[in-house]
Amino acid sequence: MPDASDVPSDIQLIKQRKKDGIEIPLHKDVQAKTTTTLLEHIRLVHNALPELDYDEIDLSTTFLGHRFSAPIIIDSMTGGTDEATIINGRLGELAEKFGFGMGLGSQRAGLKSEELAATYSVARRNAPNAFLIANIGGAQLAKGLSIDEARKIVKMIRANALVVHLNSLQELVQPEGEPKYRGVLSKISELAKAMDVPVMVKEVGAGISREVAVKLEMAGVSAINVAGAGGTSWAGVEKLRADSANDSLKQHLGELFWDWGIPTAASLIEAKRAVKLPLVASGGLRNGLEAAKCIALGASMVGMAYPFLKAAAKSKEDLESFARTVIAELQSTMFLVGAKNIPALASSRYILTGALAQEVTRP
Ligand SMILES: Cc1cc2nc3c(=O)[nH]c(=O)nc-3n(C[C@H](O)[C@H](O)[C@H](O)COP(=O)(O)O)c2cc1C
Repeated sequence: MPDASDVPSDIQLIKQRKKDGIEIPLHKDVQAKTTTTLLEHIRLVHNALPELDYDEIDLSTTFLGHRFSAPIIIDSMTGGTDEATIINGRLGELAEKFGFGMGLGSQRAGLKSEELAATYSVARRNAPNAFLIANIGGAQLAKGLSIDEARKIVKMIRANALVVHLNSLQELVQPEGEPKYRGVLSKISELAKAMDVPVMVKEVGAGISREVAVKLEMAGVSAINVAGAGGTSWAGVEKLRADSANDSLKQHLGELFWDWGIPTAASLIEAKRAVKLPLVASGGLRNGLEAAKCIALGASMVGMAYPFLKAAAKSKEDLESFARTVIAELQSTMFLVGAKNIPALASSRYILTGALAQEVTRP
């Protein structure tokens, strides 16, 4: 029988799960296998007469009342483990230097101890002026996370907004998951009324349908991040964790639903047609050309998670170099379509082709 000191504490278990949540996406291939974002089916129209110089292009924009140097959010990722302190520290520095937004990983763990809270708040220490987004799970809300706890989570990083992540697929496949989503919408609505920062909602890689977008708008949220399919697969991450836990049913579910979800481009188009709320496009975005396509489709901002993690895990220099590349790709696309600023890019003409055209014209 194990001695009490051999039994991992609550905090050790959290740290291990959070560590897996970084290490698996980083070192194993958990990207979508067959589903794509469908952004490859969008063609922005080339403008042979842009009538502007590359250097005069202005990437700045406003979202939820905050000014950003570029319409880019480092999407919600991590916290709650020692590795996360380094990653969040670097991402915070980047957000501050480049005028990006940044989401933190699910912060319930940060309520458990000061030590765990510091793995999140390091981002604010390094980014005193950046737009930081606090994060809680829909499943935790359903389970009874209180408004008071949500306020503590916002305070932990002096957040500019709070996002609720919807992760039904992940909860389903996760060996210790809790696929309990009854009552989440009314909790989101209560939260939207009670908080004094804007409340956003995001998926984590399976997308938001038009029906869900409408419900969220009615619930009073301030913005939606569609986080569609085609990038990091959380069924994939949890399938690999189920391998280690020898949980054969969860392994099977993870494999079966690895590519489940609404492709990012389709989710964005659906949501844009259904609601007036500002939208963030994310899920499988890997470069500035794809970011430009999302802005043309109606996104106010774009988010990327895995590419920032990969670069942040290497070094500060790799991270900055990646950010500069994405900006150059976005700015180059704007030059090629003749858009001198983000509103002009948002109104540029595009052509939908192939599977995406079929998907979004179906009733
Ligand atoms: C390492 C890692 C950890 C993540 N943790 C969270 C999280 O705690 N909360 C959340 O809302 N989303 C989380 N996500 C999901 C991302 O915010 C994003 O929605 C998803 O990964 C799709 O984007 P991508 O294809 O650019 O990675 C995480 C993603 C990664 C890669």
